[in-house]
Amino acid sequence: MSLQNHRAVIVGGTSGIGLAVAKSLLTQGAQVIVASRSQNKVDEAKKKLGQKAQGHVLDFRDESQTKQFFKNFGPFEHLVVTAAGDSAMTSFDALPIDTARAAFDSKFWGQYLTVKAALPFIKKSGSITLTSGAFSIRPAQGTSTVAAINSAIEGLVRGLAVDLAPIRINAVSPGVVDTPIFSGMDEESREAMFQAIAQSMLLKHIAKPEEIAEAYVYLANNTFTTGTVIHIEGGAILS
Ligand SMILES: NC(=O)c1ccc[n+]([C@@H]2O[C@H](COP(=O)([O-])OP(=O)(O)OC[C@H]3O[C@@H](n4cnc5c(N)ncnc54)[C@H](OP(=O)(O)O)[C@@H]3O)[C@@H](O)[C@H]2O)c1
Repeated sequence: MSLQNHRAVIVGGTSGIGLAVAKSLLTQGAQVIVASRSQNKVDEAKKKLGQKAQGHVLDFRDESQTKQFFKNFGPFEHLVVTAAGDSAMTSFDALPIDTARAAFDSKFWGQYLTVKAALPFIKKSGSITLTSGAFSIRPAQGTSTVAAINSAIEGLVRGLAVDLAPIRINAVSPGVVDTPIFSGMDEESREAMFQAIAQSMLLKHIAKPEEIAEAYVYLANNTFTTGTVIHIEGGAILS
């Protein structure tokens, strides 16, 4: 129970990796609030997390809404951001610029403005953990915009580690993880994709969200880590 009574906000905590982070933080004794856009996901997440967790509807692209959310929540120790809505995975020449901008608005600017809105309320002993992704290091075909977004997040983390110290800020960079982010695919295609990707990696399996969540808990706990990126990608980068 290393985070006993610490207050933690997980923006994007109603699904996938963020939900697994919320579960892990609760087992460490933290008080958790998960936030995302849809009331339905917030309600479902609260059912899964139990009475100790709170939930809130929030769109992290909306600056005034996000500022108000943190103002209402008050002082806290740990900010985790796993939210990312709009994707931009298609060949560079076929990707409309508006789609690329929307993806930046969500995953990059959403994380940026969440940190800015939360900052006045994060305790000096606290931590911020953002989310990038393995395409920053090893892009697959059609992921150049995603690679750029993830690289920008990792650069932001290094810069903010300098600007915000002693508050710690780090990023987790996951490889492929079995989460609802792939729910738009039919099951057969998704399984076929997972199997093909797993076979191409050193560790031969797609991650479960819990395998990634451990890194966020480590980063909330460890008081000597800042400006780093933890890569958890099953050896995808080396294979
Ligand atoms: N899964 C993978 O293979 C993988 C690989 C590399 C990197 N990542 C990164 O890991 C992070 C988490 O992904 P995941 O797989 O856990 O995805 P997920 O299961 O789809 O969860 C995404 C969460 O973000 C929330 N969200 C989306 N847009 C939002 C917004 N504008 N404001 C607030 N909340 C928003 C969603 O809820 P609402 O719809 O209710 O808003 C949901 O709770 C993302 O940054 C993703 O890019 C994932």
